[in-house]
Amino acid sequence: MTDDIDTDRPADPTRRMALGGGLGAAAAAVIGARAARAQNNPSGDLAGKTAFITGGARGIGLASAEEMAKAGANIVLFDIATPSLPPVAYALSSPADLAAAQARIEALGAQCMTYQGDVRSLEDQQVAMQQAVDRFGSLDIVVANAGVGHAGPIESVTADEISILYETNVGGYYKTTQAAVPHLRNAGGGRIIYISSGLSRTGNGIFGSYGATKWAVNGFAKTAALAYGRDGILCNVVAPGLVRTPFADNAAVLSAILPDAANPTFDDVSAAIASGSTLGIGHHEPEDIAKAVMFFTGEASRQMTGEIMDVSYGDAARSVA
Ligand SMILES: NC(=O)c1ccc[n+]([C@@H]2O[C@H](COP(=O)([O-])OP(=O)(O)OC[C@H]3O[C@@H](n4cnc5c(N)ncnc54)[C@H](O)[C@@H]3O)[C@@H](O)[C@H]2O)c1
Repeated sequence: MTDDIDTDRPADPTRRMALGGGLGAAAAAVIGARAARAQNNPSGDLAGKTAFITGGARGIGLASAEEMAKAGANIVLFDIATPSLPPVAYALSSPADLAAAQARIEALGAQCMTYQGDVRSLEDQQVAMQQAVDRFGSLDIVVANAGVGHAGPIESVTADEISILYETNVGGYYKTTQAAVPHLRNAGGGRIIYISSGLSRTGNGIFGSYGATKWAVNGFAKTAALAYGRDGILCNVVAPGLVRTPFADNAAVLSAILPDAANPTFDDVSAAIASGSTLGIGHHEPEDIAKAVMFFTGEASRQMTGEIMDVSYGDAARSVA
């Protein structure tokens, strides 16, 4: 009977368990979801897949979600949606941002659900992912993206700042992975894309503490690739340079990069980076990073895991390896 519900997936006893008790209601939900996604983009490369994006209310996460929605995926946007989160020095997303993000995804014809939760909580992510599977029938792609930034020299970073950086950027990615793997196994495999940073490739005097968390992300992603390769779960990293999002376009970051300028703008900073960059550009737009994320969701990367893809206006050409 389960196979009648979802005939495009192989029979799998663990998946039956996930759909579990109350099969009548679950069956109705899955049938409804399949009918809805058939209106979405049935010919897209990700038709019938479900993608879960942490930090999906804006920025790189939302742009990645939009690309996947255009390819036919069902989208789950998970975000803390809490603007003030001390000691973070800039505003995170609001509930209105999360609602607006959902509207943007739905305007593309995709199914979209949102969940207001914290990546520092394993339970939040387990509940959100179970709700996604109950509604859409599977979980296939996860983008571990929610992160917070910090500017300042090593001797000035506070204990609370160290805690939130590591608990979000490193602990959060662990918990996203822990919550996702059982569902990806049930789907017969899947993709996890970890958003790291160009600051994971070198030391940095301004963003060194943040950068250190992103070095940890690269190492964690390679460990996850080893752990889950035989399950068909491919784990890869996208490492962006400066991207025009509120994470970077805020006073704390801009004045840390250009300390001698009065009220520097994002474009001032971009121009300064461009003057020395390999490609002569000083930032990317979120859509540029989303295209790299898309690569790791698709057929072209089906035999790749443990990779790190830099999208950093050519800074990779200066890396040691
Ligand atoms: N913008 C850049 O220049 C840049 C460069 C390299 C890497 N990155 C990385 O890309 C990722 C996305 O960054 P962005 O630029 O889109 O940032 P952003 O601040 O625009 O978006 C991040 C989203 O994550 C959410 N979030 C933060 N903490 C959370 C938590 N504990 N639980 C759930 N959601 C949470 C925020 O509300 C926000 O919606 C981050 O991991 C960041 O480190 C950004």
